[in-house]
Amino acid sequence: MEQKLAGKVIVVTGATSGIGLATVDALVRQGTSVIGVGRSAERCRQVEEHLRRLNPETRLAYCVADLGLQNQVHALADAITERLAEFGVDHLDGLINNAGTFSYWLTLTEEGFELQWAVNHLAPFLLTHLLMPLLRRAPSARVVTVSSASHYNTRLRWDDIQLRRRYNGLLAYKQTKLANILFTVELNRRLGEQSAIRAFAADPGLVNTDIGLKDSSLISRLVWNIRRRGGKPPEVAAKGLIFLVGDPSLDTAKDVYWRDGYLKIPSRYARDLQAAQRLWKISEQMCGISSSGYGLGTVDDLR
Ligand SMILES: NC(=O)c1ccc[n+]([C@@H]2O[C@H](COP(=O)([O-])OP(=O)(O)OC[C@H]3O[C@@H](n4cnc5c(N)ncnc54)[C@H](OP(=O)(O)O)[C@@H]3O)[C@@H](O)[C@H]2O)c1
Repeated sequence: MEQKLAGKVIVVTGATSGIGLATVDALVRQGTSVIGVGRSAERCRQVEEHLRRLNPETRLAYCVADLGLQNQVHALADAITERLAEFGVDHLDGLINNAGTFSYWLTLTEEGFELQWAVNHLAPFLLTHLLMPLLRRAPSARVVTVSSASHYNTRLRWDDIQLRRRYNGLLAYKQTKLANILFTVELNRRLGEQSAIRAFAADPGLVNTDIGLKDSSLISRLVWNIRRRGGKPPEVAAKGLIFLVGDPSLDTAKDVYWRDGYLKIPSRYARDLQAAQRLWKISEQMCGISSSGYGLGTVDDLR
């Protein structure tokens, strides 16, 4: 496995803490070229400096972007293209859409989207489109989007998809994690079975990170502090992502949802192709893009 990823080029979002940082750490140690993405310039600088010491030979760069803002996602795609040129490569072997946030309170971005919807769903949707030309140039490529078991027992509220009228932080989070799987299902369908690009949704399980402490009420922080103690270390969760982004046995895999290297059956709703297609069209509108411009146009609309 380690040799398989040496020399490949992978983008990891949310690469300044938790699962994303552990993933970059493991990739760098095995000689993978990595472009990490973080929202804080200072955090990115510190983390990059630390990681560079682990393996001075590896090609590593960090790009700063607030993924809650689409204009910054566009700028990020340009910055990634520039870093790749500096690396001397013209393609991308993998994109790990890992960045995620939990927001207890209803927060709207400057562009008017609910924060969790913008960071957890719209950003992976848009970034995957913008990087598609680079992924297509790789002999085989992967798009891994980090979902969660919290997608079970939920559905999308089509009449208020960002829950702006009746906000509930946990429900909003669960919806975005469901959206991650629906996006992955529809992405694979649009790519087609013969595509050299495969998309997977990862369920990392319960992981001991700070996610529930960053934008949360006192009570939720207390609850997460207790709950996360039962979670696995981020380094263990990272192995599941690295398997999905690089294991050759998955080149023709059709299963979408995986935890720690094992496939799992996502909820019935997450397998609903009509819902996946409906979400895709809404996401195109929200991102102001047309998928056909990226070779992901409408294929055989479901009846
Ligand atoms: N922890 C769990 O038990 C668990 C379970 C299931 C799924 N997940 C999923 O795993 C993924 C990683 O979460 P984690 O637990 O590792 O949490 P984490 O430690 O908080 O890491 C989240 C990462 O996303 C970044 N991020 C947050 N908002 C951003 C924004 N607006 N723009 C750019 N980057 C942003 C964070 O940056 P900062 O370092 O600046 O905060 C951080 O690098 C998420 O998608 C989460 O939903 C986690």
